[in-house]
Amino acid sequence: MVISRPRGTNDFLPEVTGKWQKLEAMLRELCRQYGYQEIRTPIFEETELFNRGVGSTTDIVQKEMYTFSDHGGRSITLRPENTASACRAYLENKLYGQIQPVKLYYMGPMFRYEKPQAGRFRQFHQFGIELFGTEDPAADAEVICFAWELYRRLQIKNLQLKINSVGCPHCRPQYKQALQDFFRPHLNELCPSCQSRFERNPLRILDCKSPICQEIGNGAPLIYDFLCEDCRDHFQQVQSFLNAAGIAFELDPHMVRGLDYYTKTAFEIQVAAIGAQSAVCGGGRYDGLIEELGGEPTPAVGFALGMERIFSALAGQSDELETKDGIDAYIISSSAPQLRAASFALANTLRSAGLSTEIELGKKSFKAQMKAADRFHAAFAVIFGEDEFAQGTAAVKDMSSGEQINIPLDELATYLCAHRQ
Ligand code: HAM
Repeated sequence: MVISRPRGTNDFLPEVTGKWQKLEAMLRELCRQYGYQEIRTPIFEETELFNRGVGSTTDIVQKEMYTFSDHGGRSITLRPENTASACRAYLENKLYGQIQPVKLYYMGPMFRYEKPQAGRFRQFHQFGIELFGTEDPAADAEVICFAWELYRRLQIKNLQLKINSVGCPHCRPQYKQALQDFFRPHLNELCPSCQSRFERNPLRILDCKSPICQEIGNGAPLIYDFLCEDCRDHFQQVQSFLNAAGIAFELDPHMVRGLDYYTKTAFEIQVAAIGAQSAVCGGGRYDGLIEELGGEPTPAVGFALGMERIFSALAGQSDELETKDGIDAYIISSSAPQLRAASFALANTLRSAGLSTEIELGKKSFKAQMKAADRFHAAFAVIFGEDEFAQGTAAVKDMSSGEQINIPLDELATYLCAHRQ
């Protein structure tokens, strides 16, 4: 029996990996423009990092982590996200000693034991940025602008940017209390998850997807009436910077996000057209996390996006990530040993000159090789038969115009480089 891949994982085959590489290149270029440098952290970490970092009341920590004991008896978890790891690395490598802010980016696989469905996987890929060391609201706005700019470049349509403030440890307890007072009479009507959230994290009830919880939540008090002056002023300034950058946003007082570490700004970009898993990215400020992980109080803000969801959002539209398939040259020769050796050497010369080149690796006929040149979408067929070999030339056929000319072998690479598209 053939073994299948685990549920909720994907094989990305060559017809799509070209698009992934283009997306990655686009993201790296954006990072260069916005001044972010790459960090690569381990794919697994000590479980305690996520318990403390992501938060013990979150769905991620309570039911979605891939946790196991290693042979040394340590509890290890495959990273469900990368913010906690980035903070750990910031502390462990003393990046706080560098000029602040420190701006880092990452991309790679994350793991969550979720119910697989369209757009939701157990192994998925995130790209994210984290900006450490400034509490300035311009940093929040810059992070949001970065995300927005990516989707603009990708020409993804029907985007919605939602922002909110989830307050801080000074003002959130009063709001939490007000929410508990509001939800208490409805406790029995709430879904089982929300009933368990009621004590520890009633804010999460607000963005529950269950229609009943949503309907009850509609009348709940709004965080805006509880924000302290600092949080209110910060939120106002983030909005002013976004307005200055010409980025349209919607205030969503019910968006609290599924991770415990957020303070002040929280945001998401959604694309309604991709269905239930509409969040293409999410992030916010997390001024308490570094301290929670044992460091000095350090303000920070960032976001992460689901790379698979970019492809879902692009499905059905011709896009910026479309790859040009096709090679530069296909060498067509005969199976005579001398010619095979010479054409083999020629292929190497062309590849050394930077040309993508294919050559028949069996002993197929001239006609079959011509067909192969078509199948590879070669820009040129380089015909290298007995006559050409004797003359030290190759016949170069432009596969789109059908024109054919003879070129001396020592000029061939230069000619092809100059004429390829
Ligand atoms: P998150 O909202 O959990 O935030 O994930 C960010 C994005 O990752 C989501 O908007 C979604 O596009 C994608 N994503 C999440 N789970 C899955 C899944 N199971 N399958 C496919 N895509 C998924 C974070 O992870 C935070 N660390 C973001 C952040 C960075 N906040 C501050 N800095």
